[in-house]
Amino acid sequence: MKGIVLIGFMGAGKTTVGQKLSQKTGLQQIDFDELIVQEIGMTIQEYFDQYGEEAFRKKETEILSKSLDLEHIISTGGGIVLKEENRRLLNQMPTVVYLKTDADELVKRLKRDKTTVRPLVVSKSPEEIKEVYVPRIPFYEESANIIVETTNRTPDEIVQTILLKVGE
Ligand code: S3P
Repeated sequence: MKGIVLIGFMGAGKTTVGQKLSQKTGLQQIDFDELIVQEIGMTIQEYFDQYGEEAFRKKETEILSKSLDLEHIISTGGGIVLKEENRRLLNQMPTVVYLKTDADELVKRLKRDKTTVRPLVVSKSPEEIKEVYVPRIPFYEESANIIVETTNRTPDEIVQTILLKVGE
């Protein structure tokens, strides 16, 4: 089975669904945020504060371009689709799944998640979070070849749908 790349906004479930997909398929999971944190030796928040978002985006492109042929389950960061170059790279990958979620549901999940500090949503109002999300929607759509709705669905249901759609 070919690898599966998961894309979607923060809170869409890319990490959780990726872990479950990895268990079901036996393919190794890699999480781009984790790889970047290992490489930079600090949190994403600290990196944003010291070097800025653009430097972080460069790291994402480096990792993505090295991952094109991997037969892994890849959980990306929510902003991977922002750069045109990344969208082009994603279009070269065989299975890219957009975990699509309603904006209100995303806001709820992000407010509930007290463990991950995300520089682009920390201390933002629900309206401001939606302002980050909405302009990205066309980018997620054009980068994916499979779209899976996640609103009101459990991670197990989402995994089942993905496996059906990829024909496993
Ligand atoms: C970001 C999403 C985060 C992380 C960084 C920026 C974004 O990953 O890469 O904070 O711009 O959407 P998750 O989607 O895994 O939270």
